[in-house]
Amino acid sequence: MTEPQFDIHLDENEWAPQLRNDVLTGLTSAPKTLPPKWFYDDRGSDLFDQITRLPEYYPTEAERQILLARAVEIAEATGADTLIELGSGTSDKTRALLDAFTATGQLKRFVPFDVSEQTLIDAAKYIDDEYPDLSIHGVVGDFERHLAELPKGGRRVVVFLGGTIGNFAPKQRADFLAQIVATLEAGDSFLLGSDLVKDHDRLVAAYDDSQGVTAEFNKNVLEVVNRHLDADFDPTTFDHVAIYDAENDWIEMRLRSRVDQTVHVADLDLDVTFVAGEEMRTEISAKFTRDRLTAELADAGLELTNWWTDEAGDYAVSLSTRR
Ligand code: AVJ
Repeated sequence: MTEPQFDIHLDENEWAPQLRNDVLTGLTSAPKTLPPKWFYDDRGSDLFDQITRLPEYYPTEAERQILLARAVEIAEATGADTLIELGSGTSDKTRALLDAFTATGQLKRFVPFDVSEQTLIDAAKYIDDEYPDLSIHGVVGDFERHLAELPKGGRRVVVFLGGTIGNFAPKQRADFLAQIVATLEAGDSFLLGSDLVKDHDRLVAAYDDSQGVTAEFNKNVLEVVNRHLDADFDPTTFDHVAIYDAENDWIEMRLRSRVDQTVHVADLDLDVTFVAGEEMRTEISAKFTRDRLTAELADAGLELTNWWTDEAGDYAVSLSTRR
């Protein structure tokens, strides 16, 4: 078959000014914040991978269960010949979908979309070897900025898995869904994985595991800031905090300073003061109900057509189309 093709909308150097800007904005806000996108350097990605295998962290396994059980149904419901995966990473969890879509003989094209060019090149090579009849069109981009650049043509399904939609604040989420609708053409569909509201203790345990892996993952963002902006955060002076905000229906991860301290961020020429007990937000992970997700999709112009959960009802994969 033809060689994989790539569109590059994100420059290798673009992330550096973005990190500066995010850190400057976040550390000078009250309360202080750091956005979750900066968790994922090599160590952070490895720690996240470990999280997905923790007994307390059910979403990954629940989603895999749904995809394995429903992949053929999903393929048939979408009728798609092009599968676009946002934030595809290593395309691990996409395998079940690719298997089903190729088994039905309908799939022609796979479009992995990711921020990391190298991750995408590796994944494309791998998929190309395993599915030699597929044409692969990788796109390097940020799914908050480059959805308009997705390749057109054919009947497409846009796939956004892992519950990553939960990282968006409500306004960001509405903007994101509006962008999705704008890229969909008549007959295209949107397959979304989202974590569901459940017992609060289970939710908190999923983000504050007994082995402390999530705590390491959370504190690692400080190492990222230290390395790239020449800051002097001492991660051992911060505690990992995970709380469930029942008003907003989201998990919030924070880092709580154990002491009064001043952190210097040399590249920003910035001194940041923390008082003992002060908490800085590092992530929200929103949890959904069927009703709320249906309403949010409808607000964006999407009609929910299918809803699948795992046996325990912990996690949902939904399919929607443009109204
Ligand atoms: C990758 C955003 C889906 O919110 O559950 C896991 C990230 N943070 N444990 C999530 C995460 C802490 C994860 N997402």
